[in-house]
Amino acid sequence: MTSRYHEVYQGWKNDPEGFWAKAAENIDWYAPWDKVFDKDLGVYGRWFAGATCNTCHNAVDRHVASGRGDQTAIIHDSPVTGSQRKLTYSELLEEVQALSAVLVDNGVAKGDRVIVYMPMVAEAVIAMLACARIGAVHSVVFGGFAPQELASRIDDCQPVAVIAASCGIEPGRIISYKPMLDEAIEIAGCKPSLCVVLERPEQPCDLIDGRDIDYASAVAKAKTDNRIVACVPVAATDPLYILYTSGTTGTPKGVVRDNGGHMVALAWSMGAMYGIEPGEVFWAASDVGWVVGHSYIAYAPLLIGATTIVFEGKPVGTPDAGTFWRVISDHKVAALFTAPTAFRAIKKEDPGGELVGNYDLSGMRTLFLAGERADPETIRWAEEKLQVPVIDHWWQTETGWTIAGNPVGLGQLPVKYGSPTVAMPGYDVQILDDAGHQVAPGELGNIAIKLPLPPSCLPTLWNADQRFHEAYLDEFPGYYKTSDAGMCDEDGYLYVMSRTDDIINVAGHRLSSGGMEEVLAEHPDVAECAVIGIADAMKGQIPAGFLVLNAGVERTEEDIEKEVVGLVRQRIGPVAAFKTALVVKRLPKTRSGKILRATMQKIADKQDWKMPATIDDPVILDEIKAALETRGMGI
Ligand code: COA
Ligand code: AMP
Repeated sequence: MTSRYHEVYQGWKNDPEGFWAKAAENIDWYAPWDKVFDKDLGVYGRWFAGATCNTCHNAVDRHVASGRGDQTAIIHDSPVTGSQRKLTYSELLEEVQALSAVLVDNGVAKGDRVIVYMPMVAEAVIAMLACARIGAVHSVVFGGFAPQELASRIDDCQPVAVIAASCGIEPGRIISYKPMLDEAIEIAGCKPSLCVVLERPEQPCDLIDGRDIDYASAVAKAKTDNRIVACVPVAATDPLYILYTSGTTGTPKGVVRDNGGHMVALAWSMGAMYGIEPGEVFWAASDVGWVVGHSYIAYAPLLIGATTIVFEGKPVGTPDAGTFWRVISDHKVAALFTAPTAFRAIKKEDPGGELVGNYDLSGMRTLFLAGERADPETIRWAEEKLQVPVIDHWWQTETGWTIAGNPVGLGQLPVKYGSPTVAMPGYDVQILDDAGHQVAPGELGNIAIKLPLPPSCLPTLWNADQRFHEAYLDEFPGYYKTSDAGMCDEDGYLYVMSRTDDIINVAGHRLSSGGMEEVLAEHPDVAECAVIGIADAMKGQIPAGFLVLNAGVERTEEDIEKEVVGLVRQRIGPVAAFKTALVVKRLPKTRSGKILRATMQKIADKQDWKMPATIDDPVILDEIKAALETRGMGI
């Protein structure tokens, strides 16, 4: 099949508003928009201004009304608990209505924020949909974050309620969520008045009188009472959710997603990008705490009437490196979406792909990879073992869907290893030099997107228009700065090479090295520090911290290194995978005092590096090299 991509992209360029108005026909609206795009609203304009809609109606109710009630909507497949559960669209509607009733009856109203702190259970998606139904704004916090991180999100979005689970399950250990939630509320200035707690049999918890209610009994009562809660019409431009992502400092950025544009872009992407039809099974093996989980576990599959999988397990160890193939075969998955790191983990355990042969993968058409650069070796391995096209695609929490990809639904374009392929309709992607001029094909530069951003992309940061300007819009006027560096070739294929800021990418998770430095600097014996991401064969990058100690410190370097590792785990969480700290005498700096993190990273990764012209004292780099060598670090 020849690809329709170029024709479709050109169609968007010729008439962007007409393109999105047509895509919006797949969504039910209570009232139509006044303007498809109103450039005078918000920071850089808003999509579908004047329209009213409800995301839960589009993801659930309308499918039941149109005869999909008996189709499976959600499959919870949980190798860590040894259980599986399927919910049809009708059952999902019943569950969502009941939880909506619990929220409304406890005073949660349109516009209120609700934090969701849950592991990979079906109730996490139900909670998101229940908030959407009543017009409340959810903010899901990943379970691997520590109480301090949860507290900073509570303080930023000021929720009236929290929906949580008693525990999550990691291979070989139970993670108690409830004590972390209680500690976070203790630390936070804002005190939510309601916590709806899902008691899991693996580890029940105590409930606090007057604040906590038991999820199961409250929902059961709402069902017995036959409580009907209608979908609340909201403005297309109203927030559906806030998702916090790492910035260059320890204070996370609250990415805002609207209702209307988000539905339109996501529904379009399911057909055009992923080639998925209503009724098919789509599996995004991520976590609801990340943007991939929001877009492609919770919302997009349900918006088009497909079946989604909530997988509570890991690519390896639950119980083995064949789990992904078992899930694909058991549930007849048409497309899998995951991070390259998951495939590297599988390949490490089962390099010959022997376990693939134990399962029937004939229903699987495509593997999609995102979250970090897909290395050609991993792509080739997956292509060979699975015998399906392997599609890399690039996007960010901020966009909520693909910026550049290979749209298999429009007809697959030739794959070039190392490139996530081409810009999707909606995105005018350009490579700019530091002065903001476009560079020639093949030249490296800053990847920027000409404004306006397409539907689903963040209109702003939660309560922080100024920070939104500073972080994304000010450096290249008229453009959104992606903070990724890369290039475009003669055929318009994009290559995304690295971040231009201090964000590091650990196992497909985005973490702030600045945030980790803030934690290290709190240690009383640390005078100065720097955190860099160093190459790791499985996780892509892992953080490493360099510490300069205060003069006169008498404790051993080993003790201090252990303590700061513990401190990052306690403050940020295990997900930071911060396991390496090294005491050094001095940090390499420019003459103006800037720490040369990029050069340190190149040395750690054993890449070619040049002595920076502005370095203050070149000898310090030899000291860093020697310190790294004593630990055998880098790859
Ligand atoms: N709650 C609590 N703790 C969690 C957690 C959660 N939801 N998720 C992870 N953690 C903990 C882990 O137990 C681990 O703790 P440890 O340091 O005590 O071992 C730590 O956080 C790091 O976890 P993880 O990143 O999962 O690393 P891992 O070494 O256990 O597994 C992979 C490695 C590659 C298998 C795993 O990172 C993976 O599945 N990656 C896929 C990434 C992905 O889906 N990204 C989303 C973008 S599409
Ligand atoms: P997140 O917001 O957590 O989804 O992380 C987004 C960042 O991950 C991007 O800015 C990139 O740095 C990186 N990233 C995601 N997908 C890709 C990809 N396919 N290729 C290269 N980098 C990617």
